[in-house]
Amino acid sequence: MARCNWCFIAVLPLAQLRRRKKVVLFIFLASLAVYLTVLHSGASHFSDSWRVNLNMSFSNMTISDRPQIGLCMKKTFLFDPNGWTKFPLLLPQIEPNISCEERQLFMVVVVNSDANDIRHRDSRTAIRTTWGKPTSNTPLKWRLFFSLGSSPDVATAMNNNHEALLHNDIIIGNFNDSYKNIIIKTFMSHFWVFSRFHCKYVLKTDDDVYVRVPWVYNWLNNVTMPRRRFYGGLIEYVANVFRTPGSKWYITEEQYKGEHWPPFAHGSFQVVSTDILPEYFNYTQFRMPFHADDAFFGVAARDLGIKVTDIPGFCFVVGAEECDLKTATAICHDISPTRIMSLHETYKSLKRSIEGYL
Ligand SMILES: *[C@@H]1O[C@H](CO)[C@@H](O)[C@H](O)[C@H]1NC(C)=O
Ligand SMILES: *[C@@H]1O[C@H](CO)[C@@H](O)[C@H](O)[C@H]1NC(C)=O
Ligand SMILES: *[C@@H]1O[C@H](CO)[C@@H](O)[C@H](O)[C@H]1NC(C)=O
Ligand SMILES: *[C@@H]1O[C@H](CO)[C@@H](O)[C@H](O)[C@H]1NC(C)=O
Ligand SMILES: *[C@@H]1O[C@H](CO)[C@@H](O)[C@H](O)[C@H]1NC(C)=O
Ligand SMILES: *[C@@H]1O[C@H](CO)[C@@H](O)[C@H](O)[C@H]1NC(C)=O
Repeated sequence: MARCNWCFIAVLPLAQLRRRKKVVLFIFLASLAVYLTVLHSGASHFSDSWRVNLNMSFSNMTISDRPQIGLCMKKTFLFDPNGWTKFPLLLPQIEPNISCEERQLFMVVVVNSDANDIRHRDSRTAIRTTWGKPTSNTPLKWRLFFSLGSSPDVATAMNNNHEALLHNDIIIGNFNDSYKNIIIKTFMSHFWVFSRFHCKYVLKTDDDVYVRVPWVYNWLNNVTMPRRRFYGGLIEYVANVFRTPGSKWYITEEQYKGEHWPPFAHGSFQVVSTDILPEYFNYTQFRMPFHADDAFFGVAARDLGIKVTDIPGFCFVVGAEECDLKTATAICHDISPTRIMSLHETYKSLKRSIEGYL
């Protein structure tokens, strides 16, 4: 607004000299040009900085448990839910019924799944019966949940609700489950975990991945690891930003400037410590999140001064044929339900043959 004022000051007195309309017009256009240049250079000077709303008022956001699922905890944390972006930080419409004791965990694993495509149901079944099932005879305290949006198809939506009720391990958000809404789904998962659990870490993955949770758990629990402000996983160090209009991954200059992303943890395997989540939630209200959810986490980490840590051993090859299973932390991508089952059998036999093998 400050820049605009001087345009009016310069133009208005001259406008009174009616006989010199051309001069006035010229001066007006020149002023406009200067104004636009200043505006433009200002924008490029702050190339990729946040568009901070200077009129901000912070409020304590208090989240209480829904009465019907037990009043285990009330969480209060400071962030601005009314920033200029108005990005929806949603709590799911459908969520599991979990006892208060079961909400005290070391780690919560959230698996992005799909509400529309029936094949994802098979993936969920495979994960539930294999790597997603915490073994009862270990002290490891973690639980896995699937994260879904809503299906516009009534029958599919009903099936999803039924599956959620039956297995008690699905959260369903009230938004269309589409590619462009993945970012809403990912933030819903983190927001839900933060609001409902006392836990140290959130591991976010997809339903076409095989994760060796005990291995990850052991790695995170190593005393030499940072326990605060942790953000890590399979790191993309200099990934290109997609600039082809029409592409599924297209990112506009408005969303992000620059040819490369800052380092970020790949969406198929990302771990954050819960202490940094309020900073992330606040950040979404000042910089509009875009559909490339994993890259967005990296941009936020850069701006919030959060270090990116590589968790070694992620094997990223289609079909897992060339993975060294003994040293793999997680295996990706496009792992079919059948492959998830067979990998699990292999790990079970490795465990039987190697003492102390996780
Ligand atoms: C800040 O925003 C509030 C609510 O939107 C508005 O009422 C108030 O006038 C604004 N203050 C300034 C200084 O712009
Ligand atoms: C937020 O809550 C804390 C603790 O309840 C309180 O000390 C603080 O003043 C509150 N801040 C705002 C902005 O309401
Ligand atoms: C929220 O983000 C704004 C904009 O970046 C920042 O100025 C503010 O300090 C942040 N607040 C909290 C509580 O992190
Ligand atoms: C949640 O589970 C508890 C214990 O299993 C049960 O008593 C309660 O009725 C359940 N609540 C709902 C809404 O299903
Ligand atoms: C939901 O998303 C799909 C896929 O992008 C789209 O075809 C459909 O029109 C959307 N439905 C609604 C109700 O927005
Ligand atoms: C913990 O980390 C150190 C240093 O990276 C490593 O030498 C050690 O083997 C790790 N311990 C476990 C149990 O993973």
